[in-house]
Amino acid sequence: MHKITVKAEIEYDVHIGGAWRSYLETVLSAHKKVLIIAPAFIASSAELRSLTEANDHILFITPDGEAQKDYATAESVWNLLGENDFGRTDAIVGIGGGATTDLSGFVAATWLRGIAWYAIPTTLAGMVDAAVGGKTGINTGSGKNLVGSFYSPQSVCADMSWLQTLSDRDFAAGLAEVIKTGYIRDLSILTLLDSVDSIAMVREHALDLVAKSVAVKAAVVSGDFKEGKLREILNFGHTFGHAIEKRSGYALRHGEAVSIGLHFAAILSESELGFSSSDTDHLAKLLEKFGLPTVLLKNEYQWSELLALMAGDKKSRDGRIRFIGLRAPGEPDWIEAASSDTLTATYEKILL
Ligand code: GLY
Repeated sequence: MHKITVKAEIEYDVHIGGAWRSYLETVLSAHKKVLIIAPAFIASSAELRSLTEANDHILFITPDGEAQKDYATAESVWNLLGENDFGRTDAIVGIGGGATTDLSGFVAATWLRGIAWYAIPTTLAGMVDAAVGGKTGINTGSGKNLVGSFYSPQSVCADMSWLQTLSDRDFAAGLAEVIKTGYIRDLSILTLLDSVDSIAMVREHALDLVAKSVAVKAAVVSGDFKEGKLREILNFGHTFGHAIEKRSGYALRHGEAVSIGLHFAAILSESELGFSSSDTDHLAKLLEKFGLPTVLLKNEYQWSELLALMAGDKKSRDGRIRFIGLRAPGEPDWIEAASSDTLTATYEKILL
């Protein structure tokens, strides 16, 4: 088991390889009332029901996937907290993928201006990214995570047994964030992934990969919790990725959209930061080896719509679209002044 500490507005531990049941029992016994937010397949488990029914704890069954990160779901949770007189010493636990922990943290941040919350991520993407770092939020019609708060959990428990519940497609989507982490800070992640040939083989290294990825995220977040600048390196692949994810109507997994975004950002880095084209090819092949998409069909999306979405992204400043790129693997940098011609040419290079 690994314990990694994040130093944000509070200091908290991420327990990697911990057992979620005993972790949850400890949380439930520390608070009089706890609201557990989980999707149906988790909330319906007899185990979870028996753990919650013992006291005044409550279960909220959240919709699956990105759909739960909306105002209506947040409002339903606020109503439930109100009906059950949740006070400042009560708590929320989010058990699920990144959408569930983002929603859980957001309602915890906003209820009574902030009550304690805990995260039990059940997906690879949740373990290495969403549940760690204290970014909480919901989506609006205009884009992803536009309403939210920086609000850290009290602790996080990443139990590897959840990963067995993931399809290879979902596991691969999480790997996109792991690969991103390798490219921005920890080349040993890339060496490990270069040495294996299938998702089944990667699964055997899950504990190591999660620990390495969380260590990078913890170090970056501890240095810049509120994303003054350094934390933005975690957004490598996300400027274009978020636009694709939104435009796909969330049909693409976040990690799949990020995978295409990583390829886009690598090609853009060639012209803007001198990244080598052989390193771009390596990045694309690594993603493709695990079944992740790196290209788009010619008429799949309207470039003008993607541009408009990128300009409206949180990462843009005064309408200027900002990207994180690479000078070399492990050397991220900011791209703030790419011309519209360069962006169009980069887009054309990822079209089939
Ligand atoms: N997912 C990027 C961050 O947490 O900053």
